Amino acid sequence: MKISVIGAGNVGSLSAMRIAQEGLGDVLLVDVVKGLAYGKALDLEDARSILKFNYNIRGSDDIKQIKDSDIIVVTAGLARKPGMTREELLAKNAQILKAVCLEIKECASNAICIIVTNPLDIMTFYALKITGFKRQKLFGMGISLDTARFTNLIAEELNLPNSDIEALVIGAHGAGMLPLPDFSKIKGLKLDKFMSEEKIADLATRTVERGAQIVANLGSGSAFFAPSAAITAIVKTIVKDEKRTIGLCCYLSGEYGIKDSCIGVPCRIGKNGIEKVVELDLAGKEKAKLIQSAQLVKKAAAELLI
Ligand code: NAI
Ligand code: 2OP
Repeated sequence: MKISVIGAGNVGSLSAMRIAQEGLGDVLLVDVVKGLAYGKALDLEDARSILKFNYNIRGSDDIKQIKDSDIIVVTAGLARKPGMTREELLAKNAQILKAVCLEIKECASNAICIIVTNPLDIMTFYALKITGFKRQKLFGMGISLDTARFTNLIAEELNLPNSDIEALVIGAHGAGMLPLPDFSKIKGLKLDKFMSEEKIADLATRTVERGAQIVANLGSGSAFFAPSAAITAIVKTIVKDEKRTIGLCCYLSGEYGIKDSCIGVPCRIGKNGIEKVVELDLAGKEKAKLIQSAQLVKKAAAELLI
C-alpha cells in the first residue's frame, strides 16, 4: 500500500508517523514548503532503529510524487487561530484544496481520499466536485473525532474507561454537530441511567466546543493528537478491510432525506472505501438539524464552484 499524506504540518506529520509506525503501508509526506516534508521524513526514519521497526517513509515538496497512491490523506491548509471559526478558513483553504485535488485527479485517480482540511464538510463536498470521484472513494474525517471527544467527556464524568462507552455524534464538524445521547450507551444502557438530562446536555455542548477550547489554549494552531489518531483509525480500517462502522463526512444521495450534499453520518468502511451508509432512526428535531446543516454545506460549496 502506498499512503500519501498531503500537508506536513501538525496533523499531517503526526498522521504520517502513526500510519508508518502501525505498519499500514509505505508513507509519503508532501508539503508545499521546500524541505519541510523531507526533513520530517528524515527525522521519522531515524526513529526506526530505536523502535526496532523498519517502516518506510519519504518526504517531498513535489506533489507529483503521490502518483499511484492507494490512499491519500489531505491535511494541506491553514488551521484555526483563537477566535477564528472553521468557516473563516473557507476561502484560503478552498484555493489550496482545489490545487491539491487537481493533482490527485491527474496523478492518483484510483486512490481513496480522506479529506481533513477545514471547514471539513464544505471541503469534502468541494473536493468531490473537483475530482469527480465517487463517494465510496472520497470522504471526510471529522465526526469520528467528535465522537471520540464525546466518549472521552462521558468517561471522565463517570470515571469509567473510554472502552466501556459507545457514544455517537453525527452532523457537521462544526456548529451543526449533533451529539446523540439516545444512541450513546454504556454497556448497553442509555446515558440517562447514569446522569441527569442537564449533565448530558452539558457534555454535548462541551463536545461541540472542544475544538475551540483546544485552539484557545494552544494559542496557535488547532488539535492534532486526537485528529491524527482518528485519521489513522480510518486508514487502518481500509488497509485491513476491517468493515468497521465509523462516522465520516459522506456524500448523500437520498439517505436521511438529503440529496447532493455531504454531512457526517456513520458509514461501514472496507478496502474499497465506503461500503454502506448506515441510516439511523433519528428524532424529528435531529433530522431537521442534519438536513439544515447539509443545505448549508451545499450552499457554501456552490458559491466556491461558481
Ligand atoms: P498546519 O498549519 O500545522 O499544517 C498545514 C500544512 O499544510 C502546512 O505545513 C502547509 O505548508 C501545508 N500546505 C499548505 N498548502 C499546501 C499545498 N498546496 N500542498 C501541500 N501542503 C500545503 O495545520 P494542521 O494543524 O496540520 O491542520 C491542517 C488542516 O486540518 C487545517 O485546515 C485544520 O483546520 C484541519 N483539521 C481538521 C480536523 C478535522 O477533524 N477534520 C482536525 C484537525 C485539523
Ligand atoms: C478540531 O475540531 C480543528 O477541526 C479541528 O479540533
